[in-house]
Amino acid sequence: MALLIKNGNIITASESYHADIRCDGETIAQIAAEIPSNADDTVIDATGKYVFPGFIDPHVHIYLPFMGTFAKDDYASASRAALVGGTTTLIEMCCPSRTEEPLEAFDLWRHKADGLSACDYTFHMGVSRFDETTASQLREIVDQGIPSFKIFLAYQGFFGINDTELFQTLKFAKELGVIVTAHCENETAVAQLQAQLLATGQRAPRYHEASRPAVVEAEGVHHLMTFAELTGAHVYCVHTSCEEAVRAAESARRRGVNVWIETVIPHLVLDHSSTESTDFEGAKYVMSPPLRDKKHQPALWNALRHRVISTVATDHAPFDYAVQKEMGRDDFTQIPNGIPSVEDRVNLLYTCGVQTGRIDLNTMVDAASTQAARLFGLFPRKGTIQLGSDADLVVFDPEYRGTISAETQEMNVDYSAFEGWEVSGRPETVVVRGQIQVRDATFVGQAGHGQFLRRQPTH
Ligand code: URP
Ligand code: ZN
Ligand code: ZN
Repeated sequence: MALLIKNGNIITASESYHADIRCDGETIAQIAAEIPSNADDTVIDATGKYVFPGFIDPHVHIYLPFMGTFAKDDYASASRAALVGGTTTLIEMCCPSRTEEPLEAFDLWRHKADGLSACDYTFHMGVSRFDETTASQLREIVDQGIPSFKIFLAYQGFFGINDTELFQTLKFAKELGVIVTAHCENETAVAQLQAQLLATGQRAPRYHEASRPAVVEAEGVHHLMTFAELTGAHVYCVHTSCEEAVRAAESARRRGVNVWIETVIPHLVLDHSSTESTDFEGAKYVMSPPLRDKKHQPALWNALRHRVISTVATDHAPFDYAVQKEMGRDDFTQIPNGIPSVEDRVNLLYTCGVQTGRIDLNTMVDAASTQAARLFGLFPRKGTIQLGSDADLVVFDPEYRGTISAETQEMNVDYSAFEGWEVSGRPETVVVRGQIQVRDATFVGQAGHGQFLRRQPTH
């Protein structure tokens, strides 16, 4: 009894071709022009559809104690939303505060996912303090299958690390062959700018961007590049939002720094004007780094087209507009940072990227699946369609036309940053390790089907 996907247009990061796919159990067993079906096979007719490898979101927050509250999703709702949106693997940021022990935090984050997630998952391990105790615990966490760290140059005193810890973390990561993902913003500059703005009565959501301008992010990237150059560490800049930050990473890459660049769907398709409404609605769009002036978007799309930007993630971080975003009504610095989008990434990348001709289908697959698999030790199990790979597959209907709305979304949050947006195409069938989790664009899977993915250091 096999799962057969027939007549599809298979799209990988480097190829596009018509073929049938047979999945035996959890893996892809055959790819051929014409595969006959047996009576007991499950057959999906993909005529006129694209067949993509399962998409990977390498930057999400699900369990997130942050800014005096908690992100809204749990693994049941987040993985359902991910799957309906075509994402079959999540890489969550495990984000302990400075006072938590790494091993305890890692166990806690895993406990939130194990048995509940409907899609596969793994973590980047947050390093919010570096000393001898944390080093030995981090070594243990790497041995448990987590060869990637996450550091914050922002949020000092909570998630953020100082320069001594930055140097030591990168040196340690280099020794272990671990890649370090980093939130790059100069926290001291942010704190000074926030204080200045508040002191002059500029307290509304629209001032969030002024408190973290592009130059502050570019300085953060440049800072990381300097330390990566000194230590030889492999680093990955998360949620890169502006031309200056891309240039800082690119110029370091030219001088030999091992750096990869991520952008996120909100920065590609939303801009600062969303935060400018005179009422408090702008709070829905507060994230860090902030949404930028629209002029940055062509640079991001262009860097994506030329694969200078490796990945498109979401930085999914859902906080309700009522109650949670409300915490910052009189002070934008108190608005929990984050935009929910794990459900929308692939549809928006297709609609705003492929349909407009900014990127081609292969680049979309590369950025939303293959590169994350390669960088984070999941390839070729994930991130492609080839014999022996996990049967994580997305049958995508390019003819579908629909509208995004909070009313119909799976994400457990009371608004959509893309309310009323029209999308072209959507995942119709989504398969995780041979099991159909989404049929007719509706979640039909099981919470708990998702597996924790053990990875090996590759850097
Ligand atoms: O605004 C954001 N990005 N919220 C989540 C935490 C982070 O900085 O990634
Ligand atoms: Zn961040
Ligand atoms: Zn994040």
